[in-house]
Formats: sequence, C-alpha cells, structure tokens
Amino acid sequence: MPNASSQRPQWGSRLGFILAAAGSAVGLGNIWKFPYIAGQNGGGAFVLVYLLCIALVGLPIMIAELMIGRHTHKDAIGAFIALEHKRSWWQTPGWISVSAAFLISSYYSVVAGWTLDYVYRAITGSFSNQNATAIEGMFGSLIADGSRQTFWHLTFTLLCLGIVIGGIQKGIERWSKILMPVLFVLLTLLFINGMMSPGAKQGLEFMFSPDFCKLTPGSILEALGHSFFTLSLGMAAMITYGSYLKRDEDLFSAGLRVAGIDTLIAIMAGLAIFPIVFAVGLEPAAGPGLIFKTIPVVFSQIPGGSVLAILFFLLLAFAALTSNISLIEAQVAYLIDERGWGRKRATCTIATLAFMVGIPTALSYNVMADWTFIGERSFFDSADLIASNYLLPIAGLLIAIYVGWFWRGSEEKKELVAGGSGWVYPLWHWLIRYVSPLAVAIVLYYKMEEAGLMHYLAGLFD
Ligand code: PFF
Repeated sequence: MPNASSQRPQWGSRLGFILAAAGSAVGLGNIWKFPYIAGQNGGGAFVLVYLLCIALVGLPIMIAELMIGRHTHKDAIGAFIALEHKRSWWQTPGWISVSAAFLISSYYSVVAGWTLDYVYRAITGSFSNQNATAIEGMFGSLIADGSRQTFWHLTFTLLCLGIVIGGIQKGIERWSKILMPVLFVLLTLLFINGMMSPGAKQGLEFMFSPDFCKLTPGSILEALGHSFFTLSLGMAAMITYGSYLKRDEDLFSAGLRVAGIDTLIAIMAGLAIFPIVFAVGLEPAAGPGLIFKTIPVVFSQIPGGSVLAILFFLLLAFAALTSNISLIEAQVAYLIDERGWGRKRATCTIATLAFMVGIPTALSYNVMADWTFIGERSFFDSADLIASNYLLPIAGLLIAIYVGWFWRGSEEKKELVAGGSGWVYPLWHWLIRYVSPLAVAIVLYYKMEEAGLMHYLAGLFD
C-alpha cells in the first residue's frame, strides 16, 4: 500500500497533532457562530442536540477522514486514488473537499483580516471614548473600504504562508503548539471575566436553560450543519492532517480529544461573550454583528475593557489562523503529493490564488456591491453558500458511504485496531454506515430545498 511514507513528513508528537487538528477545528465558527445559534435555538436543548450531532455524526466522520489519510499517507485526492485507482469515480469526494478548502480559504482569510483590523483598532485605542453609534459604525466603514480589507486579507495570507511554508513539524506543528495554548489562556481570562460579570446568570440562562419549544426541525439541521463546519469535515483538512500520523496512533481517542476541545472552546466562548453583553443591557446580535459591533461597544463600557478588547480580537485572529493554515495545507499537500511540486512553490501558489479569489469577497460590500451571483447573493455569500451548504455535506456524505460500504479488505477495522481502539469498531461502523450518511443526506436535502434547488431539479424532469 503506501510506499512513499518513509520520506513523508510526520507530526513530531501526539500532542503536536492534537493541537494542530484542534487548531483547525477551533475557528471563527466556534466563537461567533456556536454561541449565537445555541442562544437562538433553545439554549440547553440545542446544546444537547448539538452534542448528539457531534457524537453520532461529526466524530464518526472525523475518524473516517483521519483513517483515510493515515492509511494512504496522501493528500485528499491522492488518498482516493491510492485506495482505488487513477480513473476511479471515488476521487470525487477528494476533489470536492479540496475545492471546498480552496473556496473557504479565500473568504475565511478576508473575515480573519477583519479580526486583525480590530486587533489594530483595539491596540490603538479606537474604541475608547467613543459612543455606541460611532463604534458600531466602524464595522460599516471597514466593509465599505475595499482597500483596507484587502490590506488585512493580504497580511493574514502572508502570516499563513509563513507558517505553512515551514512544513509540518517546523511550521504547522510548532505554531499550533504556541498559538493554541495562548488561545486557551486568552479565552480562560475572558471566560473568568464573563463569569464574574453581573450578567453571568443571564448569560448562563441564554446558553443553557433548555427551551424545547424553540427547538424546531430547522434548529436540528442547523446543529448538524454546524457540527460539520466546526470540526473541519468535508474539507480535506482532516484527511491531510491524518496523513502525517504514525501507524500506531489511536484515531478514536485523537478524534475524541479534538472534538472535545472544539466543543469546550465553543461553550467557553459563549460564556465569555453573553454575560458581558447582558451586563451592559444589550441584546446579542446575530453573526458578524455580534463580534464586530456589539462586543466592541460592550468593551468600551466595562472596566478594563480596552485590554479585554485586545485579548478578545487576538483570540479570534489566532483561532482563524490555525484554521486557515489547515485549509491551505490541504491544498498544498495535493500539489506536493500528486504534482510533485516543492513545498515552497506549492505554498506560494496556493496563497497567491487564495489571495486573488478572496479579493472579490473583500469588495463584496463596496466596489462590487451591485454584483450578484447565486440568487441575488454577493460574491462572498455565494462562495459561502456553495462551500458550506453543498460541497461540504456532499463530500462528507460520500466519505461516510465510501468508508462504511465500499472500502475493501476491512482496512478501516485494522486502522482502529492498530491504535488499540478495536473495541469501539462495531459502534463506529454502525454509525458510519447508517446514521451519519442518513443524517448528512437529510441536511443536504433541506439545504437544497431551502435554496429552491429541488424545485429546479424537478423542473428538469418535467
Ligand atoms: N473549523 C473552522 C471553524 O469552526 O471556524 C472552520 C474550518 C477550518 C473549516 C478548516 C474547515 C477547515 F478545513
């Protein structure tokens, strides 16, 4: 089977891999999306459903991705070629995942650029001595400014390039070992601050008190969809990171740790954010508004807020950085493994492409505001729609079906047994065969229906 594995780079330590994979999983999705959707969809009831989605769908697929990578020691496309053959149809999930990584890395980096802009504003004291309207207006002026966004997008791309070019041990692993602990310390400080604030009780209630009436079928779909994005599944990242693992690594316990860290950080982020939002009498806004409008207003009104603001935006920037490097690495690995490129050339090419494709995202709310793509959506929203709503679940579904039904020779069983987790095989195998594909297929169906695609497809057959 895998032949080139002797010269293939490997993680230097188990901890290094866990931190890098957790770095990929812990990103903007954890800090601005999870807390908000939890609060909106019934607090504790939603958290419960979310945990179930992670355990029954996310974790089994993450283990499957790590297995494919570790077994073949290849990038996501090469992995399926190695498992099947050069013309095999099964390369499709590989191509879809790498394309998703490409699309997401382009706009993720623009949003990450916003966090850098806010780190800069926090350090230079732009939020102090300003009223709420002025602070909220800063976000509008940032997204109206194409060149400012492009500058930060470029800065962020260069930071990622600088890390990925260093390779697995000296680049990604080394930086994950620095950035992830710092991220954890920053979040812990903000979490303690949240828990000590007068809004702690209200914040805890918002996130945890179970309200089953708010738990609609839509919120279950939201939980499922988010469990995918937050664990970096369907985007070649976990296959690629798995491909640098040693043969005896326990994939079950590694996956469990990564999913555990991801969930813990999402919950801590909510408990850092909501108490202080409620303490100053504000309502939590949705999406980017929560982070880029509400939070700076909150920090301008609480004691020590100017320091907390720096910590908070640094936290976001670090979370985005470790996520984006996994997206870049997933593409770089393809060029190195399948095209025989050197790491330097591959990284510079992917970073340049991601930068260029990110520019229309940076211009989506200014110069290109009138350009619409899919159904009146801006370039940014269209790219996000294609990647998050379609490419990702389709890749996840195909991966689950492949590993559950088509992987020959019981290799998947050997992969679990090799690390000492053979006992979990029957349960995992049942989940990956029946539960995960069914759940992802349902999400996909509803996403397509939501976008009117089912209607469109039905029309084709009339
Ligand atoms: N998991 C990241 C988040 O929650 O923000 C996003 C992400 C990173 C998705 C890397 C996919 C990926 F490969």
